[in-house]
Amino acid sequence: MTRHFIDLADAGAEAIAAMLGDAQARKAARGGWPKGRVDADAPLAGHVLAMIFEKNSTRTRVSFDMAMRQLGGTTIVMDGGSTQLGRGEPIEDTARVLSRYVDAIMIRTDDHEKARALAEYATVPVINGLTDQSHPCQVMADMLTVIEHRAKLVGTRWAWLGDGNNMTHSIIEAGSLMGFDVRVGCPAGYDPDMRYIDAANARGATVEIVRDPLRAVTNADVVVTDTWISMGQAHAEEKLAAMMPFQVTEAVMAAAAPGATFLHCLPAHRGEEVVDAVIDGPQSAIWDEAENRLHAQKAVLLWCLGLIG
Ligand code: CP
Ligand code: NVA
Repeated sequence: MTRHFIDLADAGAEAIAAMLGDAQARKAARGGWPKGRVDADAPLAGHVLAMIFEKNSTRTRVSFDMAMRQLGGTTIVMDGGSTQLGRGEPIEDTARVLSRYVDAIMIRTDDHEKARALAEYATVPVINGLTDQSHPCQVMADMLTVIEHRAKLVGTRWAWLGDGNNMTHSIIEAGSLMGFDVRVGCPAGYDPDMRYIDAANARGATVEIVRDPLRAVTNADVVVTDTWISMGQAHAEEKLAAMMPFQVTEAVMAAAAPGATFLHCLPAHRGEEVVDAVIDGPQSAIWDEAENRLHAQKAVLLWCLGLIG
């Protein structure tokens, strides 16, 4: 069966653990090599990844491109606007056609169902590079970063502060699959999608939503936030005002467990969801987190193509 990576639950806990292990091993094996050098085993030599971008990207675009290069493969980048997708060619037909040319497809789009439809009609693996509902590749990198910075993932306590968005959903899903605790601090009206919370609770998690930011971070080992206005959302003063009490400040970090790790998927809006003193401070792991997109995605690609697990 073709392996798709649309949500973390598609892979499941065992495969995620295997991917995180492989990512650590490959990262360590490269040491200080030039970034364009191919891994010694060149496991994806001869393979091509097509990347469809219907939204902006810096990290996802460059890290997937470099991931394929390091694995010995190559990429084709397609912008929604300059392809027939932009003129309304059905995603089902695009899936069938691309499957005849390339070995895997990554898509960044607004509609989650579009990514699911691409996977349904493609005969090659499809990877979700962010939809309005989830961002599983980012959370693979986040988990890798927590393992590196805190020496463990299982049993860690994560606090999400801010908007209940695609990142929140993937973190909730990850926690319930991998055994870490997720508490969400967000203002009323901006809760995450209940479907992700219900699914997590059905796996035995207890996802708590709290309205008090300091209570949300109490005992947290990891404090994570994201932009208050995601791509495709209108700038709204009312939303920014509602979010302000959930800004990650030094006082918020002081209320978390001592030495808690700060994460942010980036791009950040300094002075909105996080202040400079935190994002640039000693507890911030954001640059490792950004680098880990590359290492985690190499493992995702290898899993999708049947070379892990
Ligand atoms: N974090 C993340 O997905 O960044 P980009 O939007 O730059 O890809
Ligand atoms: N929630 C953000 C994540 C960006 C990587 C967005 O969807 O714009």
